[in-house]
Amino acid sequence: MIIAIDGPSGAGKSTVAKLLSNKLNFEYIDTGAMYRALAYKAYINKIDIHEENSDKISKMLNSTTVDYYDNNIYLDGQNVEGLIRDELISINASKISTLAIVRNKMVDLQRKIAENKNVILDGRDIGTVVFPNADYKFFVTASEEVRAVRRYNQLVVSNKDIILENILADIKKRDEKDSSRKISPLRIADDAILIDTSDMSLEETVNKLVDIIGGPNVL
Ligand code: DC
Repeated sequence: MIIAIDGPSGAGKSTVAKLLSNKLNFEYIDTGAMYRALAYKAYINKIDIHEENSDKISKMLNSTTVDYYDNNIYLDGQNVEGLIRDELISINASKISTLAIVRNKMVDLQRKIAENKNVILDGRDIGTVVFPNADYKFFVTASEEVRAVRRYNQLVVSNKDIILENILADIKKRDEKDSSRKISPLRIADDAILIDTSDMSLEETVNKLVDIIGGPNVL
């Protein structure tokens, strides 16, 4: 069974997806982490992320392995979960994910990893492109302001100098980039269920999804 959870940055998709996967005993795949891992590798190897540089990026892709299991992202066999969450990598992940060579490789990989499993994937294009026949499709979102505050609360723990206005500006920039790109832009699938979490707690959100799916015991 495949459960697709799409939505914009900072809507809480990955936290919701992780909790839901624990409740249902499903595997969880964070597809954003895959784009982040590639952006991280490009960054440390000083590879510019531009369409015109796609030869270099293609070379990098051919010599790179990305994997996701046990809630961790692996780049060339190394767990990079702790290295890919800052704002610079967020913006670069949004950039690298606009490239067709990157998306094709990641979509193939996501389909392969999810094969024959009960799995929850979160991302931007899971219900529209990666698994258009997913058993359940959710589009989890919240207002820009609510998403910025949530992201701020996450980041301020490790960086006291973080500024809310900058986070909000980054969220707007990423929304614009993710929604306006040519290939697989962020959009709600026609048959997805829209969940606006602006006024919902995490627990309420997870419970709502469990209710829709039919509860942990029916699967
Ligand atoms: O979910 P996230 O913020 O970790 O994702 C990082 C970036 O990766 C996001 O800005 C857009 C891109 N992405 C994508 O294009 N398709 C996906 N399925 C997941 C993420």
